[in-house]
Amino acid sequence: MKKIPVIIDCDPGIDDTMMLTLAFARPELDIQLVTVEAGNLTIDKTTYNTLSFLTYIGVDVEVAKGLQQPMLRKQEVAEDIHGEGGLGNVKWAEPILQASNRPAIQAMVDVLMKATEPITIVATGPLTNIAALLFAHPEVKPAIKEISWMGGSAVGGNMSTTAEFNAYVDPHAVELVFRSGVPVIMSGLDVTHKAYITREEMKALSHLGTPFAEKVAEMMNFYTFTQSQTPFYTPGFEEQIRIHDVCAVAYLVAPEIFKGDDYFVEVELNGSLTQGTTLVDYVNKTGKAPNVHVLHSVDRQAFIDLFFHAITTIGQKLEA
Ligand code: BDR
Ligand code: CA
Repeated sequence: MKKIPVIIDCDPGIDDTMMLTLAFARPELDIQLVTVEAGNLTIDKTTYNTLSFLTYIGVDVEVAKGLQQPMLRKQEVAEDIHGEGGLGNVKWAEPILQASNRPAIQAMVDVLMKATEPITIVATGPLTNIAALLFAHPEVKPAIKEISWMGGSAVGGNMSTTAEFNAYVDPHAVELVFRSGVPVIMSGLDVTHKAYITREEMKALSHLGTPFAEKVAEMMNFYTFTQSQTPFYTPGFEEQIRIHDVCAVAYLVAPEIFKGDDYFVEVELNGSLTQGTTLVDYVNKTGKAPNVHVLHSVDRQAFIDLFFHAITTIGQKLEA
């Protein structure tokens, strides 16, 4: 099988660990490097969580620590959603895996410059590392096939009325990435709010029969509670548990289950009420050429099947 070479940039974060689960369960992906963002938590915590979770699921991959804070904005984290440690109440493993001695940007440059074919970047946090990479090392652009990013939204936010968390945290980074000329696929809230798990499906998770699945269910229970406290305008929304980041990998392994269109997208940098809002020009007001492939819908059942299959695959691998 021809594999897709991938670099993952993440900020675990509960749904980031579920994204890593899908990524490491899929034979289609050749994961060459994992870099860590500050985002849901400070960089020390997201790095620890990445090392701890990857140690638990038994993968050996280079993990490189990224930048400490957003480009210009004051750092804001999401411990209210992911917990103080970032992974609910669950302890995964004391890390055996150690962070690389190369910082994230250097590690990405080295991997990209040695690549024999263009690499896909999966990004599921604020885009600080990726923006810094593209700004400081434009020579790597031809080595990047595309960036599959969870972030932004065409309509409605979760951090403010109009802004999604990852875009809100570092809008200047989003702007640099959107303007870079590198193709971007945006799994924003428009699609990730359709990629939810129900409470019934959550119960089924714990019955998959492996200690891994039980721990996932325990962690997700925490997330279910914190997400149910999030206000939103759709009735019944509190019953739907969103695993946003999983979409960025699911799109790579099963693009046929998603629908999207190409649009010109820019981000609000200075709005006093709207910072981090991604403006998706679906009415073609700007007349500018599309720079982002915006996903807007997903076959939810196929997505859940993919997710459950990944939990089963990793759970069984650990028991073998
Ligand atoms: C995004 O924000 C974070 O809290 C999640 O990990 C996800 O990347 C959803 O808005
Ligand atoms: Ca994330």
